[in-house]
Amino acid sequence: MDTLRFCLVGAGRAGMVHAVNVSRNIKNAQLTAIVDSNREVLEDRRRELGVEHIFTDLKEALSRDLFDAVIIVTPTFAHKDIAVQCARAKKHVFCEKPMAVHVDDAREMIDTAEARGVKLQIGFMRRFDQSFIHAKRIIENGEMGEVMIIKSVGRGPGLPPPWTYSVADSNGMLGEVNSHDFDSTRWFAGSEYKRIYVEAINRKVQKLKKDYPDFYDNAVCTLRFENGVIGTIDGTCPADYGYDGRTEILMTKGLISIGETRGEAFFTCNTDGVIKESAFKSWRNRFRDAYLEEMKSFITSVLEDKTTLVTGEDGLAAVEAVVAANESIRKGVPVEISRA
Ligand SMILES: NC(=O)c1ccc[n+]([C@@H]2O[C@H](COP(=O)([O-])OP(=O)(O)OC[C@H]3O[C@@H](n4cnc5c(N)ncnc54)[C@H](O)[C@@H]3O)[C@@H](O)[C@H]2O)c1
Repeated sequence: MDTLRFCLVGAGRAGMVHAVNVSRNIKNAQLTAIVDSNREVLEDRRRELGVEHIFTDLKEALSRDLFDAVIIVTPTFAHKDIAVQCARAKKHVFCEKPMAVHVDDAREMIDTAEARGVKLQIGFMRRFDQSFIHAKRIIENGEMGEVMIIKSVGRGPGLPPPWTYSVADSNGMLGEVNSHDFDSTRWFAGSEYKRIYVEAINRKVQKLKKDYPDFYDNAVCTLRFENGVIGTIDGTCPADYGYDGRTEILMTKGLISIGETRGEAFFTCNTDGVIKESAFKSWRNRFRDAYLEEMKSFITSVLEDKTTLVTGEDGLAAVEAVVAANESIRKGVPVEISRA
């Protein structure tokens, strides 16, 4: 096999990023089918992407020999059933983050993929961003000593879709937006999570309070890893001013700083001397290259039978951390994490 045939499952906001990449931007990939529970979305995507085979029913798609791998980009609560069904049908699985809502679901996804001999990669695209890769290299080669404190800022521009409002069903903002921070801090720490304490408030979307009393839109997490590294994750959504994903890693012999809010390499200056610059408006443009690179890497793992660079275990560790973080909010105490 020298080209990987894909089926996109879930053709919403993030689904389209992957759909465009595999159908137009990657040579050894082909988008041959789309599954979405919404018929109207499917018809629109067929027109936009020129994909012949569209289905509202995953089972029907799996019954035909149309693809080798799936890209799962449905709401998070649906990831587990779809991933397990696809892995059982011997399809390789690329699954968007958060891997699942519950730790047991993530474990079942890993076990099924292993049992059926298919690859499983989770969509932590930050690990394919040049600045994140550079930081990880500096940490690994030891030139700045050891990691002491990691500070990760993860703020999303707009309110995510309504299926994220219920914390019980989706793990809320910390799952939807800050899963990336939970993964990258663990990656930089080079250690498993030990303890998490979180303060959260609902400050900006108070109209959701009535129907979703546990909804929060701001959170600060204090982290401790097993190897002694400590850190914070500061999350907000909606942040209105744009997508803001910055990380600072304090080392024993220096400092690494990743990311900035400025989205364009230009500014305007008007006659009053006011300088205007623009921020990153969306995760789509901040991580455009990383989304492409993560998919290329997944394809290489399948075609060359290599372990994926972001594994199911990585996805599970982030789910564990997010679940513990929400428990900390509910109980108002630090929560210990021990690997399942
Ligand atoms: N990596 C990233 O930076 C990033 C960014 C945004 C979203 N995401 C993740 O992608 C996933 C989807 O998020 P989104 O914002 O694109 O959601 P969305 O609501 O925009 O799109 C979801 C799509 O899935 C379809 N769908 C729902 N249930 C389905 C089912 N059972 N089978 C098939 N199709 C179904 C819906 O009709 C919709 O078209 C989430 O897990 C989210 O966390 C990741």
